[in-house]
Amino acid sequence: MLPHIPEEHAITMGEGNTPLYHLQRCGRATGVEKLYAKHQGMNPTASFKDTGMTFAASSAHQGGFRWVACASTGNTSASMAAYAARGGMHSLVLIPEGKISWGKLSQALDYGALTCQLRTDFDGCVRILNELVRRKPVCLLNSVNPYRIEGQKTAAIELMEQLGWEAPEHIIVPGGNLGNSSAIGKALMEMQELKLISRLPRLSIIQAEGANPFYRSVKEFGGAKIEPVTAETQATAIRIGNPASWKKALRALRATAGEVEQVSEVEIAEAKAEIGADGIGCEPASAVTLAGLKKLRSRGFVKPSEMVVLILTGHLLKDPDFTIKFHRGDLFTGTTQERQAVHAKPLQRAPVVLDADLGAVVGALDAAERNS
Ligand code: F0G
Repeated sequence: MLPHIPEEHAITMGEGNTPLYHLQRCGRATGVEKLYAKHQGMNPTASFKDTGMTFAASSAHQGGFRWVACASTGNTSASMAAYAARGGMHSLVLIPEGKISWGKLSQALDYGALTCQLRTDFDGCVRILNELVRRKPVCLLNSVNPYRIEGQKTAAIELMEQLGWEAPEHIIVPGGNLGNSSAIGKALMEMQELKLISRLPRLSIIQAEGANPFYRSVKEFGGAKIEPVTAETQATAIRIGNPASWKKALRALRATAGEVEQVSEVEIAEAKAEIGADGIGCEPASAVTLAGLKKLRSRGFVKPSEMVVLILTGHLLKDPDFTIKFHRGDLFTGTTQERQAVHAKPLQRAPVVLDADLGAVVGALDAAERNS
């Protein structure tokens, strides 16, 4: 099911074989007892990108490229920079200035990428990159690179293996540039063709309300076209207005009879804290899956007895700024969501600053016990 890469060109860091967690608290809260998370943030550079990048970087190495390049909201660039460094290649990263998390930016720098912060958004970075590859001999490693999609199929294949080749009823993924939904959909169809699984899970795709071109394409235009939007969301990984792989994702959605949903900024922040409270954690873009599940449950698309697997795409530590602002109650200050954000208060756990005094700590402990 995967492309062949000769041993001498393989660049690998032990990606894949990520854990599948039972989300007990989130399951109780959503009324879906069999709720699981496949955590792709547990890969070497802490996001799902690594499973595709091992193939794409290896193929660039096989092609004799000195330079690899990508436009990114942060995770692709972190992953590409690492795999390029391991393979002795140079990497060029184009990212939107001021709109990626520090965790991801710091990875690209440490792995030695030439990191260009362009004064534009992700979609603007893609435009420049597409022109650049026509001028310079650099290998494009965005998810339009077919090796990326092939490698990212492994999340779905591993998942079925972990479940003893019994497909769950639902798989839920975040949708940004839509490479991941395309890859998972392709893997599911191939596994059914090979009779590794007997039926297809429904693959549902969730977008942030402020970055919802695919949701609108399906709901408003019946998938006939896509209208690019100016994307805005604090889940910066999916701040994408013109997704490259929307047609492939639409095919996956249709073939598996999945659904699309959109979720608000406050719903994303709440869902992220809920996944955190289950001891798992993820980055904001990954949490759209749980927020979307709540909507799919209330519409009756997901039934209480069904098994649901959320694909968590990035690690909690990718974007600590978001998490700290949320728990301190600052995330929505001065935004249009400020009023709606009061609903999230019970989930907030701001740090307590105390004197170095035993009595003060005992007092805090007792107060927490009374409130628990
Ligand atoms: N979740 C995370 C954490 C991401 O980084 C991305 C995309 C997505 C979800 C959406 O996946 O694009 O395949 O639909 N990040 C890309 C990047 C765009 O540049 O890192 P998608």
